[in-house]
Amino acid sequence: MVAFTLNGKAQTLDVNPEMPLLWAIRDVIGLTGTKFGCGMAQCGACTVHIDGTATRSCQTSIGDVEGAKITTIEGLSGKVGQMVQTVWAELDVPQCGYCQSGQIMSASALLTETPKPTDEDINSAMSGNLCRCATYQRIRAAIHEAAHRLEA
Ligand code: FES
Ligand code: FES
Repeated sequence: MVAFTLNGKAQTLDVNPEMPLLWAIRDVIGLTGTKFGCGMAQCGACTVHIDGTATRSCQTSIGDVEGAKITTIEGLSGKVGQMVQTVWAELDVPQCGYCQSGQIMSASALLTETPKPTDEDINSAMSGNLCRCATYQRIRAAIHEAAHRLEA
């Protein structure tokens, strides 16, 4: 039995502790906003926050999150999380959308840790989040815009 907090609610699961967290979130719990891309920690589509840190859920075992606070795109809230989602919508960042929950989770973690990120900070925080539709310029603009509005 693994016990953790998911999007602010206590959650217990009776599953194989080696099950990837991504499987547990999508297939057992039924929250499908977090996406499967590569399964090898190389695309970022499966990014969630574990105790506030952007983490690849495809390469995290459910047994390793005992006692942790996990946030998925469905539970992303707070000043930064809401601002990132608002700006993403206003600037029409997504194209097909598949990678975007992962992008938003990484961007929110970045802005929480580094409120005024430089282009270099953005490159290093976001480089693990791939986008087949190449929305990278809009993602960068949206992160700067969210930082600017959060500062105001
Ligand atoms: S599905 Fe996890 S990084 Fe690609
Ligand atoms: S918006 Fe299509 S993969 Fe990123």
